[in-house]
Amino acid sequence: MNSVNTAVETTSSQSAASRQPLGARVGIPPRRVAMNLEDSKAGYWYGNDPFLTYYWSAFSILLPEGEQFFVNAVRHYRDQITDDDLKAGIAGFIGQEALHTQGHQVLNGFINAKNLPAAEIEGQLKLLLDTAARIHPRLSLAATICLEHFTALMGEQLLVEDDHNAAIAEDIKPLWMWHALEETEHKAVAWDVYEQTGGSYAVRAGTMVITTAVLGAVMAYATARLLHADGKLLDVRNNWRGFKSLFGRQGRMTRLAPKFLDFFRPGFHPNDHDTKALVTEWREKLFGAYGEMNHLLKGGKSLH
Ligand SMILES: [Fe+2]
Ligand SMILES: [Fe+2]
Repeated sequence: MNSVNTAVETTSSQSAASRQPLGARVGIPPRRVAMNLEDSKAGYWYGNDPFLTYYWSAFSILLPEGEQFFVNAVRHYRDQITDDDLKAGIAGFIGQEALHTQGHQVLNGFINAKNLPAAEIEGQLKLLLDTAARIHPRLSLAATICLEHFTALMGEQLLVEDDHNAAIAEDIKPLWMWHALEETEHKAVAWDVYEQTGGSYAVRAGTMVITTAVLGAVMAYATARLLHADGKLLDVRNNWRGFKSLFGRQGRMTRLAPKFLDFFRPGFHPNDHDTKALVTEWREKLFGAYGEMNHLLKGGKSLH
């Protein structure tokens, strides 16, 4: 993996002192957030609930390898892009995803330290993604826009639904809120790269069907593995309640279905889901003058 230092590109025309990440010019600034969970006492860190904690832990475990896959997929087509704003967006996208990987590695290390098989699941996912990446670069990019659609919708939901973000343990919450904000900021980058390099509707729609099935299977497997390792797999009553809270009639994931299905509209673009006001609100809240996360920014500097 490229180091984050090389992944966060700066504008070369500026003096060294005033250099800013290229992505910041188009509203996609990579932010270096220091995560540290060494002293964390968090147990079931989502809603004090084993099922939901392991569901979101499974998601976190998939992210480092997944985001590296996205970065590689976009980077492959980068030289074909001539639009300056999109080039800056790609730089911001790569920088943000590389830094998310670092953040989730801290959480995944914390999960692994509880004798849970985070590292093993990550290894299995790497095998799967390495195999997928060998099929065709176009398919890797199509899978990336599918998965970025998921991360955009889930990120937006986490920013909007206060009962959702309030369920996360205090010391783990900043990672998810920072990540949710940045997924919302860069949600159109991979999409625009796909479109501007001639990606077709048929391939994106077909890839979404396969990607959704694979993601569902991987999430079910990883969640079950974690529950099993903790002796909670057969706690059927709690697991069923947690499952229903996500996928029941009014479940959190179920409520995303209409926006998920927008992906299949031929003329759809991620910015059709207008999140500008939401991004402004959360930039201010997390990284503004009195931002809740400023103390975690390396260098103590707000880039919003
Ligand atoms: Fe990310
Ligand atoms: Fe992303």
